[in-house]
Amino acid sequence: MTDDRHTLLAAASNPRRARDEDTRVLARLFTASFLNDPVFDWIARPGPKRAQGMERFFFWLLRTRAIPFGEVWMGDGVAAAWLPPGAPASPGGFFDQLRLLPMFLRLCGFPRMGRGSAMGDAMEKNHPHEPHFYLAFIAVAPRLQGFGLGTALLEANLKKIDATHTAAYLENSNPKNTRLYERHGFVARRNIAPPGAPPMIAMWRPAPMESERA
Ligand SMILES: CC(C)(COP(=O)(O)OP(=O)(O)OC[C@H]1O[C@@H](n2cnc3c(N)ncnc32)[C@H](O)[C@@H]1OP(=O)(O)O)[C@@H](O)C(=O)NCCC(=O)NCCS
Repeated sequence: MTDDRHTLLAAASNPRRARDEDTRVLARLFTASFLNDPVFDWIARPGPKRAQGMERFFFWLLRTRAIPFGEVWMGDGVAAAWLPPGAPASPGGFFDQLRLLPMFLRLCGFPRMGRGSAMGDAMEKNHPHEPHFYLAFIAVAPRLQGFGLGTALLEANLKKIDATHTAAYLENSNPKNTRLYERHGFVARRNIAPPGAPPMIAMWRPAPMESERA
């Protein structure tokens, strides 16, 4: 991967759609970026097994629940996992969830399974019903953060979304990101975090008005 800022920004502004074979690289990128995220810090197991548990979680999420829907976009050192309107945002029925138990056990560790499940339930319960693109995760490699890559990718993604006249939704797991999202038109709706958890702020970006359409 190049370190030249202009090349990185150009790739982020003109992202490519992630493919199956990108899953491992992306799972590593998301793990490195979210390792110290306040919400992951609350639900994920502490200690040296955390990164491995998170990598498995992201690998599963990307491979089975995100990349197949065609809205995971990436540059160099930056990626965003979106779900298009209608794609399921959380694991389906009881048996699906049962099958995923070992993966969630690796992510949370037994003592924090209750936290993981409370957070998952809160996200599911508060998920909007109106049609929208859902930004499940966006990440920039830690050493490249703050150089505009996240902004460039978000702008490129939102431009495409606006062309479909559709709203967008995300849950902000880190107060550090609030200004970034607000600059891009997301408005905080409410804190959906379960009791005792760090804030998880539901943010909604309305579909562009007729008059704003290009
Ligand atoms: C959030 C993230 C994708 C932003 O991408 P970025 O390339 O670092 O951000 P940009 O340089 O384009 O924009 C800067 C804005 O990002 C936000 N930001 C969040 N973490 C930041 C960091 N470590 N360094 C710099 N800016 C950060 C701030 O809002 C900042 O704007 P401000 O200085 O006006 O407050 C990236 O920092 C990241 O991967 N963070 C860790 C994972 C994460 O929090 N993902 C989103 C979860 S909801």
